[in-house]
Amino acid sequence: MGFEMKPEKDVLELISSKNQCKSNPSSVNSSHNNNNNNKKKKRNKNKKMTTTMTMTWRQKNTDSPVDEITPVRRLFNTCKEVFSNGSAGAVPSGDKIQLLRQILDNMKAEDFGLAPTMPFFRPNTGPVNRSSPPITYLPLYQCDQFSIAIFCFPPSGVIPLHNHPEMTVFSKLLFGTMHIKSYDWVVDAPTRDPKTRLAKMKVDSTLTAPCETSILYPEDGGNMHQFTAKTACAVLDVLGPPYSDPEGRHCTYFLDFPFEKFSSEDDVVLRSEEEKKGHAWLQERDDNPEDLNLVGALYRGPKVED
Ligand SMILES: [Fe+2]
Repeated sequence: MGFEMKPEKDVLELISSKNQCKSNPSSVNSSHNNNNNNKKKKRNKNKKMTTTMTMTWRQKNTDSPVDEITPVRRLFNTCKEVFSNGSAGAVPSGDKIQLLRQILDNMKAEDFGLAPTMPFFRPNTGPVNRSSPPITYLPLYQCDQFSIAIFCFPPSGVIPLHNHPEMTVFSKLLFGTMHIKSYDWVVDAPTRDPKTRLAKMKVDSTLTAPCETSILYPEDGGNMHQFTAKTACAVLDVLGPPYSDPEGRHCTYFLDFPFEKFSSEDDVVLRSEEEKKGHAWLQERDDNPEDLNLVGALYRGPKVED
């Protein structure tokens, strides 16, 4: 998932400016360099201490060895590798998909500083004037090749059926229970009108964390999906590439209707009842469906970039 919202843009700019404020290594070294001593023995001792402290500082703050990289940094570095040569419609190699899947499979809400007790996840107790309680969108990072974000759902939160044109999408349920329904287009199927196409159901199941990462592709894997929170839950989303209106990757929403709704006796596409059950007509909706209730917020977890 990924949605262009004005608040998200503001949040991304905040994150960008925040990440420019880095510690200055020279200030750490200079404090030690000023610690001069005329006695050679003591000078050597101080030099040794300075070296030790500088190394400690570097290990914690700059070129961290592998064992000190946070899970979020590891995810970011892996995304850079997996999507480095990415382009719209191009699926990463099988090895790269497995690499990112393994990283995501082991990620937990705590890795991002999230806990089920946070306000994002509380049941909606206010007046019910929309069909979904507010879902909070936390953007972690976005570039031309990929984006990383987290959706925070209170119980009963719904992200309506939507597509991911020319994208490969990794979705990891960090905690909670979520129902997922997804479809892929039926190629060369008859259309009822320009905005109504036949689709085959790919997934209609409920996931409870911990569970494996779900992956969808440009042409299969359930490119159109809907998320419905059965309990409070959080979903980490990695999109490659992200949505982009200028590049033709627009997020479109759909309503799904049973096969019989628009079928005629002339149809020979689906013969058996079983086949018909596994298919639906997807009809395009307006860009801002009334049941989409998404709000942007600043990600405050561990730093993503260097
Ligand atoms: Fe999505």
